[in-house]
Amino acid sequence: MAGLVRSLDTAAADAPMAAVVVETVQGEGGVNPARPVWLRTLAPWTQAHGALLIVDDIQMGCGRTGPFFSFERAGIIPDLVCLSKSLSGYGMPMALTLLRPEYDVWKPGEHNGTFRGYDPAFVTAARTLELFWSDGALEARTAALGERVGGTLARTAHRYGLPAPRGLGLAWALPFDRPGAAREVCDAAYRSGLLLETAGPYDEVAKLLPPLTVTDEQLTHGLDTLDAAVASVAGARTLAV
Ligand SMILES: Cc1ncc(COP(=O)(O)O)c(C=O)c1O
Repeated sequence: MAGLVRSLDTAAADAPMAAVVVETVQGEGGVNPARPVWLRTLAPWTQAHGALLIVDDIQMGCGRTGPFFSFERAGIIPDLVCLSKSLSGYGMPMALTLLRPEYDVWKPGEHNGTFRGYDPAFVTAARTLELFWSDGALEARTAALGERVGGTLARTAHRYGLPAPRGLGLAWALPFDRPGAAREVCDAAYRSGLLLETAGPYDEVAKLLPPLTVTDEQLTHGLDTLDAAVASVAGARTLAV
C-alpha cells in the first residue's frame, strides 16, 4: 500500500485525480486477492484526494468470491461499481454501472442510445437474483466449495513442488514457476474435457472459475482432471525451475 500511495501521491501533485479503479481480486492479473486492510486504507485515501473509488466487479462480482459484491469482505462501499459477465445468470449480454445517488446527474431519458438493454437479460437477471440471492445459501456454498478447492490445489501444488495456490470463493489460481507450464497444463486438461484459462502477466497461472452452480461430483471430477493434467506435464519435465 505504501508504494502505491507514494506513486499516487506523486501523480496527484501534478493533476487532480478523477478516480481509482480497482479489482478486489485481480482476475486476468492472475487471481491476486487484495487484503481487506489494503482496501479499507484505499477507500478513505481516495476520498481525501477528492477521487472516486471505482470497483470493477465484472469478473469477481455476482457471487464469484462468495458474497454478491467482492468488496463486501472488506466492508467498504465504493462510489461506482461495474458489473457484467454472469449478471444475467444465463449467459446473456448485460452490464450495469452502480453509482451513489449523489453522482447520478442523468435526467430520465438523457442517457440513451440504440442498443441500451437487452430485455430478456433483464428478465433472467431478476430471476437469478430471486433464485440465488434471496437467502445466504449460495454464498455459504461458494465459501465451502472454495475451501475444498483451495485444499485440493494445495495438495496438488505440494505434490509437484509448485508455488502455493491462491484464491477466494470459486476463483483460484494454480501458479507455475516454469514459463509455459501453465499453458501445457491447461492444454492437457482441455484434452480431458476440462476448460481452464491461463492468467497472470506471464500467463504463469492456471485459473479456475467453476460455475457457482457446480455439483459436488462435477467439482471432484474437475479437480481430479486438473491433478492428472499437472501429473502428465510434471511427468514429461520438471514444473518448477
Ligand atoms: C475485471 C474485468 N473488467 C472488464 C472486463 C471487460 O469486460 P467486457 O468484455 O464486458 O468489456 C473483463 C473481462 O474479462 C474483466 O475481467
